[in-house]
Amino acid sequence: MAGCVSLGVCYYPEHWDRSLWESDLLRMTDVGITTVRIAEFSWSITERTEGNFTFDFFDGFLDLCERVGMNVIMCTPTATPPAWLTEKYPESLNADINGVRYGHGSRRHYNYNSPKYRELSARVVRALAEHFARRRCVIGWQIDNEVNCEADVFYSESDDGAFREFLRARYGTPDELNRAWGCAFWNQTYNSFDEVHVPRPTVNGAHNPHGMADYIRFISDSAISFVKMQADIIREYKKPDDFITTNGMFGHLDNHRMTREALDVFMYDSYPNFAYGTGSHPERGMADRGWSRDLSAVRSISGNFGIMEQQTGANSWNTWGMSPQPKPGQIKLWAMQSAAHGADYISFFRWRTAPFGTEIYWHGILNYDNRDTRRLCEIGEIHKTLSSLSGLAGSAYEARYAVVRDYDNIFDCDVDAWRRALDGESVEGLFRASQHLHAPCDYVYIDDGADVERLMRYRVLFYPHAAIMTEARSRLLYEYASRGGVIVFGCRAGYKDENGHCPMRSLPGLVGEWCGADVDDSTAQAGGDAPASVRWGDGKFPAGVYADFVTPKDGAEPLAFYEDAWFAERCALTRKSVGGGCAYYYGGTFTEPAAREFIARLGLAEPYADTVAVPEQCEIAARGGYLFILNFAHTESEVEFHRPVSDAETGGPLRGPHTIPPYGVLVVRV
Ligand code: GAL
Repeated sequence: MAGCVSLGVCYYPEHWDRSLWESDLLRMTDVGITTVRIAEFSWSITERTEGNFTFDFFDGFLDLCERVGMNVIMCTPTATPPAWLTEKYPESLNADINGVRYGHGSRRHYNYNSPKYRELSARVVRALAEHFARRRCVIGWQIDNEVNCEADVFYSESDDGAFREFLRARYGTPDELNRAWGCAFWNQTYNSFDEVHVPRPTVNGAHNPHGMADYIRFISDSAISFVKMQADIIREYKKPDDFITTNGMFGHLDNHRMTREALDVFMYDSYPNFAYGTGSHPERGMADRGWSRDLSAVRSISGNFGIMEQQTGANSWNTWGMSPQPKPGQIKLWAMQSAAHGADYISFFRWRTAPFGTEIYWHGILNYDNRDTRRLCEIGEIHKTLSSLSGLAGSAYEARYAVVRDYDNIFDCDVDAWRRALDGESVEGLFRASQHLHAPCDYVYIDDGADVERLMRYRVLFYPHAAIMTEARSRLLYEYASRGGVIVFGCRAGYKDENGHCPMRSLPGLVGEWCGADVDDSTAQAGGDAPASVRWGDGKFPAGVYADFVTPKDGAEPLAFYEDAWFAERCALTRKSVGGGCAYYYGGTFTEPAAREFIARLGLAEPYADTVAVPEQCEIAARGGYLFILNFAHTESEVEFHRPVSDAETGGPLRGPHTIPPYGVLVVRV
């Protein structure tokens, strides 16, 4: 099975009687599971009282794993500090915005900046690494659990002090901070860093927006340094080939930098069933198919990544929600969605449903009664299919174009409602269009140090709303276009600087120097405003929630114009040659119809049309010489092969029409 995607499962030896361990491991092996992830919430098992470490419990479990040939991903337990710790060192706890400390009884209630918590975390991580790292069955380490999940804002006293240090290092003097935060507005001027605090309740809930952006950067830095502290310790002990990772992709965190600086590989937790059940909005975001968007973002962090937790059962807690079990076929569909997008390892959550605790309704592969389930059979089927896809692991996802993202603008969306509205519409519209036109697409994240070679793999880049633009990024994109790339900007490019100020200059700011567009005015189209349309040749589509009025300059050509609005006839789209490539400046947002028009006109739609015709309800992805056709619908899908291909699983030939069952997956060798 060289180069096959491998399977794992999340297991909690501490939840079960020891007498179950062996049969559990053997039943896992039977369905093709070769790895278990353990111990992420088990601090008290190793250190029941302060400073007294015992390893017998996990030693016993690892002995058994070694006996049956099961691999183990060991976790550090810092997501759930023990009661003795928070009782004795309450400064380890996070607090709410009122400064009220969280209590014991849930999870992720600690803060990253408490010196005591860092000291005790470092000690337990060192103890675990020292004791377990050389075990034969251990193949990797997970740090903490879901960094920044549930809590991505921190208001403890330690955070307050650390935020001041962060600002002192960033700005040097209070006056530099005053300038960067625009403190002349509403008399916010500081005379000393001691006067600056993490956000506290304000009259109307508003805070200085530039300060808020720094606060998010600070949270991201704090999380990364906490993860790195643990990774550095594990690296002193681990076997050379063992990997260090963490799981999940959450907000207020530069996951790319965290992975670069601390991890060997990034792993994601994929729960597409969140699209269903109480509180879900299946009409938005393409339901479970929407997880393909997250997986594309994950792929930009680690080209080949792992799924540490892949959904196998109904999701909800005793405190919220109610959701259906995955329907027959869906567990496999979601696992194959992960594999199609670049996962080399898929670990299911969880082996058996917890019989106690907050997650008694979060179903695993097995129910409380421990009988075989249809969900277990489906894991076996996933194994069968993935074992037939040799060479898939390690191969690259194929995309001809990419959407450009960067953390300055992502964090800016968190503090700026106008920006958020633009981004929400365009990220969604571009995703939907790429899905419906079967045009696989990557995300590419840039920063000031980004290398143009990374961009040159893509014929076209969409940079939906590059509100914050820096000299270095503008130069990078200029070079990309000069060397033959096609860059498409959406509205509001370049209107902010790195601090989130709107400098006095003509728009679109720095990119206006070379992209051939001049924007003299613009308007949101919100509330009762009838949305304007854009006419591009014989195509017409909605402009979306915003419209920049564009004038071509420096030899650019006007391509499209607004209609159905007081600014009808103003130009909506320009195009300018830049060296061997070109730049488009589009004044609207990328609603799905707009994105479709661009994707089609730029020759990116249906790249596999010569091989197969597929209805819109199916996704197509290509990786490692295989074409994945994923049917997310509850109805059958008819596809039509235009040239002979073979079914990757059976080896059988396929030509002409073929039916994919509801929630079915077909993988063909091309
Ligand atoms: C994940 C988490 C798991 C478990 C699961 C179900 O986010 O990592 O520990 O809590 O959700 O709630």
